[in-house]
Amino acid sequence: MTGPTDFRIRFSGKGHDYTPEEIDTVVHAMKTAEPYTQGEYQKAFEEKFGTYIGSRHSFAVNSATSGLELAAQLCQFRPGDEVIIPSHTFTSSAYPFAKKGARIIWADIDLKTRVVTAETIRPRISERTRAIVVVHLYGYAAGMREMIDLARQRGILVIEDVAQSMGTSVDGRKSGTFGDIGVFSLHSHKNITTLGEGGVITVKDPGMAAVIPMLRHNGHCPFPCEREHYWIPAMGNVDLPVLNGSELMPNNFCMGEVECALGAKLLDRLDRMNLEKRTRALYFIDALKEYDSIEFHRVETDRHNYHLLAARVTNGRRDEIMSFMAYEKKIQCVVQYYPLNRYPLYRKLGFGEAACPNADTFFDNMISFPFHHWMPDDDFEYLLESTKEALERFS
Ligand SMILES: Cc1ncc(COP(=O)(O)O)c(C=O)c1O
Repeated sequence: MTGPTDFRIRFSGKGHDYTPEEIDTVVHAMKTAEPYTQGEYQKAFEEKFGTYIGSRHSFAVNSATSGLELAAQLCQFRPGDEVIIPSHTFTSSAYPFAKKGARIIWADIDLKTRVVTAETIRPRISERTRAIVVVHLYGYAAGMREMIDLARQRGILVIEDVAQSMGTSVDGRKSGTFGDIGVFSLHSHKNITTLGEGGVITVKDPGMAAVIPMLRHNGHCPFPCEREHYWIPAMGNVDLPVLNGSELMPNNFCMGEVECALGAKLLDRLDRMNLEKRTRALYFIDALKEYDSIEFHRVETDRHNYHLLAARVTNGRRDEIMSFMAYEKKIQCVVQYYPLNRYPLYRKLGFGEAACPNADTFFDNMISFPFHHWMPDDDFEYLLESTKEALERFS
């Protein structure tokens, strides 16, 4: 059985609605952009994003996965190099690194915060570690300082996967600005979305920043010397971008102008939407605090944007609760994230083994409630009351 299709509350893949002004912004960009890619709207979005996040070098890309592919390329792995990645995350946090030749070493999460920590990373570090991917999962900003210290001492690159936690911060510093590289998503499901797909990569190193435009856009670059006629020898040049003396293969990972215009506009609303989600999440969590068979991660500050509302069922009755919610209450809760080492993709690549007991325990007992920003208040109350009923019944 795959479950009912007539859910009263679906686990929606659409994170938020658009305001009339945001729709006007899209229409205006449709009328005025020329060309429809790689133009003024991209430049303006990248500048505004950089100012918002606090990063000097920000580049729009067509998805966070593309950003992670670029991040993996920028690592310039040599044979035998290892990358440490949490086993509890979405697949895009990991496979781009395998694709670029790195050996994945899975790190465990902390059971309470559901993200990696210096304690879970430290035992995975070896002589061959080239990079660490820290994922700020569910919208919670992992504690970066200790992990950065660990990495710096050993010349290891740190990539922050901020796909789910744009706008979160620790001690006033935004997620994505601690590591060497930050990657953000503007996918349909995320806290802000540029019409379904989009992303940003930020880097600290000016050398990396210098190669990204070529890497992102087919290797396009100016000819090295002045030309008498703009069409001779050709309209444009392409070459292999060079980083640290080595050549890299280019891609086409560009984000369109209309999406960039919308992305810039949405940045004005991001903090408010994050606050609204957090306020709702705290209301939900507090309303269920007497039930000790469910454990949420409660954070009152902007360290958490509650992109997702996830909890751990502590009495082993998760599947009964899921069934009750789905079949009796018509609410589509889901389970996330299948430990990546269990997927055929990673097993076939030789990364099927992981010593990550917390990731396993969490996944096997977790429940993720529908939590899109546009959920009407009456649906939200129905979700809460149904959850209470489930917890009463399966206590
Ligand atoms: C943790 C994480 N990393 C990366 C991605 C990939 O984002 P995108 O869909 O923009 O490629 C996602 C998307 O779900 C994600 O949740």
